[in-house]
Amino acid sequence: MLDVLSLDELEPMARARLPRMAFDYIAGGAEDEWTLQENRAAFQRLQLIPRVLIDVTERDLATTVLGARISLPVLVAPMAFHSLTHTDGELATARAAAAAGTIMIASTASNYSMEEIAASCTASRWFQLYIYRDRELTRSLVERAATAGYEALCVTVDAPLIGRRPRDARNQFSLPAGITMGNFKEAARADLPETERESGLAAYVASQWDAGVTWKDVEWLRSISGLPVVLKGILSTEDARLAVEHGAAGIVVSNHGGRQLDTAPASITVLPHIVEAVQGRIEILLDGGIRRGTDVLKALALGARACLLGRPVLWGLALEGEEGARAVLDILRVELDSAMALAGCRRIEEVTSALILKT
Ligand code: GLV
Repeated sequence: MLDVLSLDELEPMARARLPRMAFDYIAGGAEDEWTLQENRAAFQRLQLIPRVLIDVTERDLATTVLGARISLPVLVAPMAFHSLTHTDGELATARAAAAAGTIMIASTASNYSMEEIAASCTASRWFQLYIYRDRELTRSLVERAATAGYEALCVTVDAPLIGRRPRDARNQFSLPAGITMGNFKEAARADLPETERESGLAAYVASQWDAGVTWKDVEWLRSISGLPVVLKGILSTEDARLAVEHGAAGIVVSNHGGRQLDTAPASITVLPHIVEAVQGRIEILLDGGIRRGTDVLKALALGARACLLGRPVLWGLALEGEEGARAVLDILRVELDSAMALAGCRRIEEVTSALILKT
């Protein structure tokens, strides 16, 4: 059993366990890692106001995202290469998410194929898509996701290229022997190129992903998939409005875990502005810096429907495989349950912005 009481304890434990290249790839951010730190700092600046003398004997953390019921308002964020942390990779993560009663968003850059991941979990799941220059290949990824029962496409829109990540450049980040990108057969797509003084992922992305993706492609994806499209990586109110206009079913307010544009604001900082721009027309999710149940509560109070949890899930996986990832989600559940009770909320619908101290 994972013997920790909080998610922050996991990172140093995982650091001691993992090869440096893998740890740095997961933990690191872009350039000065200002945004990476700000994601945490911004949550810590927000203050929650307790409410008293409300009967909170019965509490329920369940909610829905795009109509699918989840047992707590936390999904597993799309992350590449889970096999860097554990041989069971995404299969274990998918089982952990299902056991916790929530949705895993499987990455295009998974080590197991989307079909293998789907076979390992009966729960509702989403597919995260990167748009390749080869549009027929992109189309086939989308069609495979629909066939394999993924219920939404989560399209990452903040990565026309990979942010400049000094740790990965220094380590010449690459995939260890025996680990490939499970969704692809051809070597050029399934493995990262050898590089000098550069991240192999940055080189891969520069040659494979399409930096020319525009709003028209959102409509193209909707037309070929029939799946709801969720755009991940929105921080601008104008982009949030455009997402509504182009038919997105939802957005993820995200700075990609501080891994793309350094000095971008924390996602929680811009959330209230995005909520105002969207006016309830589509669902808004948030990721970046969630480490406590109180962070989830703050995000919901400011208008997020649910949060995505990233790095801590991989630390749990590194330490204890499926059970570790499951324990991470359970810690967050216990913390959120406690925070809700102390804030006088019995159900997710009772969480409102009145919980946040106006400064
Ligand atoms: C991939 O999307 C990454 O952030 O490394």
